[in-house]
Amino acid sequence: MGRAGSDGIGLLANQNRNMSRQLFVTTALPYANGHFHIGHIMEYIQADIWVRFQRMQGHQVHFVGADDAHGAPIMIAAEKAGKTPQQFVADIAAGRKPYLEGFHIGFDHWSSTDSPDNHALAQDIYRALRDQGLITVRTIDQFFDPEKSMFLPDRFIKGECPKCGAKDQYGDSCESCGAVYAPTDLKSPYSALSGATPIMKSSEHYFFKLSDPRCFEFLENWTQDGKLQTEVVNKIKEWFTKDENGVGGLSDWDISRDAPYFGIEIPDLPEGSPRKYFYVWLDAPVGYLASLKGYFEAGGPKARYADTRSFDEYMADPAVEQIHFIGKDITYFHTLFWPAMLKFSGRKLPNQVNVHGFLTVNNGEKMSKSRGTGLDPLKYLSLGMNAEWLRYYIAAKLNSRVEDVDFSRDDFVARVNSDLVGKYINIASRAAGFLSKRFGGQLTSSLGSDGQALLRTLQTGSAGVAELYEQRELGKVLREIMLLADRVNEYVDANKPWELAKQEGQDARLQEVCTVCIEAFRLLSLYLKPVLPVLSANVEAFLKIEPLTFADSGQLLAGREGGHSIGEYKHLMQRVDPKLLDALFEAPAAPVVEVPSPGGEDIAPVITIDDFAKIDLRIALIVNAEHVEGSTKLLRLTLDVGEGRMRNVFSGIKDAYKPEDLIGKHTVMVANLAPRKMKFGVSEGMVLAASHADEKANPGIYVLEPVAGAKPGMRIH
Ligand code: 2FM
Ligand code: ZN
Repeated sequence: MGRAGSDGIGLLANQNRNMSRQLFVTTALPYANGHFHIGHIMEYIQADIWVRFQRMQGHQVHFVGADDAHGAPIMIAAEKAGKTPQQFVADIAAGRKPYLEGFHIGFDHWSSTDSPDNHALAQDIYRALRDQGLITVRTIDQFFDPEKSMFLPDRFIKGECPKCGAKDQYGDSCESCGAVYAPTDLKSPYSALSGATPIMKSSEHYFFKLSDPRCFEFLENWTQDGKLQTEVVNKIKEWFTKDENGVGGLSDWDISRDAPYFGIEIPDLPEGSPRKYFYVWLDAPVGYLASLKGYFEAGGPKARYADTRSFDEYMADPAVEQIHFIGKDITYFHTLFWPAMLKFSGRKLPNQVNVHGFLTVNNGEKMSKSRGTGLDPLKYLSLGMNAEWLRYYIAAKLNSRVEDVDFSRDDFVARVNSDLVGKYINIASRAAGFLSKRFGGQLTSSLGSDGQALLRTLQTGSAGVAELYEQRELGKVLREIMLLADRVNEYVDANKPWELAKQEGQDARLQEVCTVCIEAFRLLSLYLKPVLPVLSANVEAFLKIEPLTFADSGQLLAGREGGHSIGEYKHLMQRVDPKLLDALFEAPAAPVVEVPSPGGEDIAPVITIDDFAKIDLRIALIVNAEHVEGSTKLLRLTLDVGEGRMRNVFSGIKDAYKPEDLIGKHTVMVANLAPRKMKFGVSEGMVLAASHADEKANPGIYVLEPVAGAKPGMRIH
């Protein structure tokens, strides 16, 4: 994954290894059953900013991600797509790059939870937990699909809501009345995979004994020693507590799944017992470690930091801090299961689990692609919108709490145009031209007291800015930086370089004011660099300086021995045109067919090939055709569709055909249409015929007939 700009680590960090921190940073591993959505991008931007900030402090950071490859939904999606799960997951992984590069998200390494390293590590951790006596086996009853020969996870059982009777509800809760229940409570349950009625079957499952007093005691301490966010701690307290019915508290965690399952095999099962797999959530977080291991094996830390330790040596170093960024929906896994797994397998524990809220779009509207409120990250990029506008905007909205973040188009335009461009970029554009035209880009070292005071204010701001980054108070840090920018703009307005430029004998003052502006701009760029890595790299080139780090806030360019000249100013950032946001949120155009429809009917909404495949169309031989007594419209057809029996079908074609003209012809029928009871008997399918939508104005019914050679029973594909 490419990194934009440079983080300015160089030798400094290595020389100061003792002082610098060693950070292992992750974001939640995305399921490999879909492309990134804007929620993923928000999390990655948050973490990426924090990582870049730490590197600018001279710290050593390894920032890794991976695809979360396992589990029933992915296995089933792969089957539907006609791919192996491995191929399916690989295809999704292949599409990750444009998002990550496009938004300048600089993971050092990207792996998959299906990697050999993850298989081995997950099994090692399991063995360690087992050896601690924390794994127990229990027989449980579960729904089983007799056609697919597989146990059905909750989401794959449907039926009638036991409370309100709504049809087609999932096994865990009713979307119609909101009731929550067990899959076994559903009325008339059926398998969402095959439609078959599930049977109850028992199976041995492996459980992680979270209820063990050792786990309870450990987690109580670990979750309450101040490292977690207040909202998270409160949530955990709820999870720890049993209600008046004795429900809740820490209960054992079912970590096994029966075959077929796309996952990691549970090792060392008794001879002859059926294969079992880890539930996806057991091996998913282990993927953090496996991805880091892969990064070590690929020589990443050696190349970047001259760190020659092995992965195991690195992880054994107590100075290494393990830091996770996640969304609020997966807090339970990361603050209870995961630390317990690590603790009792004798591994390093997370130092931070930084939880963020969800991203909503335009006043909390739930994201939906069809309503056009979704923010498609690739569409954003393909419209030519600057990735750093979004990085800036998202940062401006984020804080260290578990709050949802709303993307509002007006707010976006205002923040980018008024703050980012209006307050910050303009400082450079107002000063640089005079310096290059009048002074060959040369900065002056003689600064007046007002300029010196301003720069001191900006330099003193460094510690506060750094502290806010450290605390992930990104909204606050940007507000702080914009306040500093306000001070600079006040200075510009007070000194009016454009007027000085016109006045006789004011050259020295003009050079001084512009120098102060450029120094100020450099400091603001330094503070914004974690958020705006590409822009900062361009600023560094324009100012002809080394990659900025926080250590640079103490010095000024103007004080350099031999002086300092800057380069030619080129426009650094455009304003956002609000029309782009209209285009961004425009609902995807429905595939409207504009051609006049000779049939008098619009083309029906698009269906997928899977939808089409549900209709079983067969060639049928019309063995007999006759009038139906008492019916003015129908003919009774006797059809052979190669099943070794005849079908009886009523068809409304009496006006168009004489029965004797149809006998012996081939036609096409819907062979899997549910039988329909009619006044004259049961109709077992439907013959295909064409007609105009307005039959009165355009009479005529035309039964379909295949080209000669088609045989009864052949399927139409
Ligand atoms: O919720 C999710 O999208 C999961 N795939 C996150 C896994 S995070 C980690 F444990 F791998
Ligand atoms: Zn209901």
